Amino acid sequence: MRVTATFAATRAEYRGRVALVPTMGFFHEGHLALMGAAREQAGTVVVSLFVNPMQFNDPADLAAYPRDRERDAALAEASGADVLFAPSPEEMYPLAPAVRVSLPDLSAEMEGAHRPGHLDGVALVVAKLYAGLRPDLAFFGRKDAQQLAVVTRLAADLSFPVEVVGYPTVRERDGLALSSRNVFLAPEDRAGVGSLSRGLFVAADAAEAGERSGAALEGLVAAELEAAGLPSPEYVALADASSATRIPCLDRPAFLAVAARVGTVRLIDNVFLDPEGPADRGVRLERDSLLYAKGVGC
Ligand code: PAF
Repeated sequence: MRVTATFAATRAEYRGRVALVPTMGFFHEGHLALMGAAREQAGTVVVSLFVNPMQFNDPADLAAYPRDRERDAALAEASGADVLFAPSPEEMYPLAPAVRVSLPDLSAEMEGAHRPGHLDGVALVVAKLYAGLRPDLAFFGRKDAQQLAVVTRLAADLSFPVEVVGYPTVRERDGLALSSRNVFLAPEDRAGVGSLSRGLFVAADAAEAGERSGAALEGLVAAELEAAGLPSPEYVALADASSATRIPCLDRPAFLAVAARVGTVRLIDNVFLDPEGPADRGVRLERDSLLYAKGVGC
């Protein structure tokens, strides 16, 4: 595996179809699953590693974001990546960007409402990755459902010749969706976090049994959170999978999403629902995540 720092040096490594896995590093099994899926479909797998300051609306969150480049390089190589593109902030943003990339209709609710500017920052850096790396395929986790809608529509609207692939959420043994931030959960907060996925799975079961009311599905998630001592989630929302706007009724492909603060950590999770077929609940690890391997963490 080559480690590159510029767009041009990365493109010089290409052989065959190119699959991009955009990341901010501190890899867990969710990232590795994206790399594995990319490996199956492309001649060259590029993993980008860049903690994008433009998508953090809280400087403390940016400063605290976990980083370990050597560990990430070893994991990416073991997962079949050909190139780890790890640009400096100067390569990514040679000038303070004058361009804004914004998808206001897709960013008005949920993450867009609770983290102002976050999805614009994601759209900007992903547009730069699409333009600078010119991948044929780009793999994103379904855990960030609204982000997936944004980066998919971004490619369509700006005619980037990339196929965007959404990949199922990978979960810890207790159902918690994997996130690099899980390493910050305090032991005493761990017990409650399973309620997010439990609530979503109860709602997914109800949807598969024919429940179509958005309020009812959202209520099932809220009830599970309340029972676990998390009565005030930031949001529980049923949204159209493509437009990321809230819908009152499950009458098209959708995601049911939740965001809640547990201790100091903000968690998001979702299930994808389809009135015509089974829900996507993600996949669950059978062992502890490598996030908690000895010598790793914070
Ligand atoms: O999901 C992430 O890790 C980031 O938002 C992304 C897509 C790499 C853009 O910085």
